[in-house]
Amino acid sequence: VRVALYGAGQVSGGVAEILTGREGIDVEGPYGRSQRARALGSGADVVIVATTSFLDTVAPDIREAVSSGSNVITTAEEAACAAAIDHERFAELDQLAREHGVTILGAGLNPGFAFDALALTLSGVCGRVDSLRIERVVDLSGFSMTVLRRIGVGHTAEGFAAGVASGEITGHIGFPQSMRVVADKLGVDIERIDRQIDPIMADREHQARYQSVAAGMTAGFRQHYTGIVDGEPWFEALFLGHLDPAAYGDPPRDAIEVAGSNPVGLRIEPGLDPQRGSAAIIANSVRRVVEARPGWVTVGDLPPAYPR
Ligand SMILES: NC(=O)c1ccc[n+]([C@@H]2O[C@H](COP(=O)([O-])OP(=O)(O)OC[C@H]3O[C@@H](n4cnc5c(N)ncnc54)[C@H](OP(=O)(O)O)[C@@H]3O)[C@@H](O)[C@H]2O)c1
Repeated sequence: VRVALYGAGQVSGGVAEILTGREGIDVEGPYGRSQRARALGSGADVVIVATTSFLDTVAPDIREAVSSGSNVITTAEEAACAAAIDHERFAELDQLAREHGVTILGAGLNPGFAFDALALTLSGVCGRVDSLRIERVVDLSGFSMTVLRRIGVGHTAEGFAAGVASGEITGHIGFPQSMRVVADKLGVDIERIDRQIDPIMADREHQARYQSVAAGMTAGFRQHYTGIVDGEPWFEALFLGHLDPAAYGDPPRDAIEVAGSNPVGLRIEPGLDPQRGSAAIIANSVRRVVEARPGWVTVGDLPPAYPR
């Protein structure tokens, strides 16, 4: 299986490290911006697009790779359930993928695992699901500066508020996508999704891998997304991201609670590692994407990712 990586950042580096030396897999790249044509036109069995979070940006890359006959895995959070945010674009690329007999998948740890695939798996022991509550506390210190600034770290309180209002600061992206993946599989229609994001100000200087943040600047944020069904909360997604969550008093962890006829809860401590976990999920998605039906699929349509 030939795998070409587009986007020369952290995720691509991690995926290349995992796949290099794996039997039956040839890795090409990671290719940076200047080698776009080489990556997307490679005709590799799988092209991995790990550049940005946004459908607008990755859609032309997906189109090009699919037109060259490649299956595509992208880490863009918005692509985890493209139909949820841009049905026209989803339909166009889904059709193109079917014509070429290839598969498109938006994948990762979140979205792609913690808030959707794992929740769906857990719901397998329930006779009926009434609601879900998923909470992650994530150490953000390993993220690149580009990602940190965009999600909301390293800003003044005023800058954070202005960035959220303008859309330049997004917090972590992908909760509506995860909710939609789960809701579609459980046959539920979400009426609306309420969103709240609040900054966490640093009370001391924090030194992350690529950025230091002075006291008085944002060192993290809290997000609370609620998917409403029949006027009631159906899916609560809570996310606390911080440069040093343990020092802040909230060590990294993941918790999934599924309420219903046979309530079930899962806690993962310490929480899933955002860098290593994402890279592994992407690497372990290569074979399941090669084997998947043509078209644009979600993680809800596929068997679990595992190393092989
Ligand atoms: N679903 C998930 O769970 C999940 C997991 C991990 C990451 N992600 C998302 O995947 C993306 C990549 O993550 P990362 O940690 O690898 O980020 P990163 O370390 O910042 O790397 C991104 C790379 O993509 C390049 N790039 C940025 N915009 C581009 C564009 N428009 N065209 C071509 N190349 C572009 C960057 O090049 P320059 O340095 O030249 O800008 C950089 O080499 C992020 O948006 C992240 O939020 C999602």
